[in-house]
Amino acid sequence: MRPAELKSLLEAKRALIDRKLAEILPESREPGSRVIAAMRYSLFAGGKRLRPILCLLGAEVCGARGEDFLLFACGLECLHTYSLIHDDLPAMDDDDLRRGKPTCHRAFDEATAILAGDGLQALAFELFSHPDLLQSTSPERLLRALHLVARAAGIHGMVVGQMADLLAEDRPISREELAYIHRHKTAALISASVVSGGLLGGGEEEALYALKRYGEALGLAFQIVDDILDITGDEKELGKPVGSDERRKKATYPALVGLDQARLMAQNLVEEALEALSSFGEEAQPLRALARYILSRKN
Ligand code: IPE
Ligand code: IPE
Ligand code: MG
Ligand code: MG
Ligand code: MG
Repeated sequence: MRPAELKSLLEAKRALIDRKLAEILPESREPGSRVIAAMRYSLFAGGKRLRPILCLLGAEVCGARGEDFLLFACGLECLHTYSLIHDDLPAMDDDDLRRGKPTCHRAFDEATAILAGDGLQALAFELFSHPDLLQSTSPERLLRALHLVARAAGIHGMVVGQMADLLAEDRPISREELAYIHRHKTAALISASVVSGGLLGGGEEEALYALKRYGEALGLAFQIVDDILDITGDEKELGKPVGSDERRKKATYPALVGLDQARLMAQNLVEEALEALSSFGEEAQPLRALARYILSRKN
């Protein structure tokens, strides 16, 4: 699949996801609607929609229609956006720019940003467990997918990874510890996104295992590239601050092994992700193209 084809595929999927999210979270005028305004502010500020797209592609590579699982995919974007809002808080990375706009706590205030994150996390689970999904998958498969993303979001994934990330600021750490941080804070949800799509879409165990290996390698490559872009990126293009990791003395791959070695590691991980898809045929071309794109991305 050529880059131009991937671009139009990603745009089409993004439009689908954005339309559904707008339906899911309309403007509100109730007394507490400030939190909804903050949730909408961050959710519709932009964003690549990588996790929901991976979910749709995971279903499609297993022969299903991705669109049938849009509610679940949108849940992944809500969960991810919650993690970004909390990640930017003064108590965590203390950043002022996200998706090209002031961060949620800057545009609103800290209490509202905390609640907007909480609201998005709960909304995510409302969507993952949406009864309409049972029109297109079995209760068993839906439950497995729900369990998988719950694990990836919490103490077996992102939350424990975020804790380890904060505890590693401003001190030397080993390669093993850094791999642990990146696998948990980022790769866990990315992997769960593509595997949940495969599960919902009726994938066999062998296919699900391949998607898991693909997602884990891709997710780690994605965070290494994020670390690289924090140094080499352009703030306008990136939509978030450059140099944030250095300022917070974060444990990152470029800090630990240097930029060149970090780039090489990301390349090798993308190769590993492609290798994991070797049992699939043509139907996996979008997933392959997406893996290659991760390396060249500018935001
Ligand atoms: C940023 O994720 C946080 C990381 C895990 C590196 P994305 O780069 O997917 O951010 P958006 O959703 O496109 O804004
Ligand atoms: C955050 O990693 C990963 C999350 C789970 C949110 P970073 O802190 O590097 O993400 P950015 O660079 O702020 O997007
Ligand atoms: Mg962080
Ligand atoms: Mg951050
Ligand atoms: Mg970063």
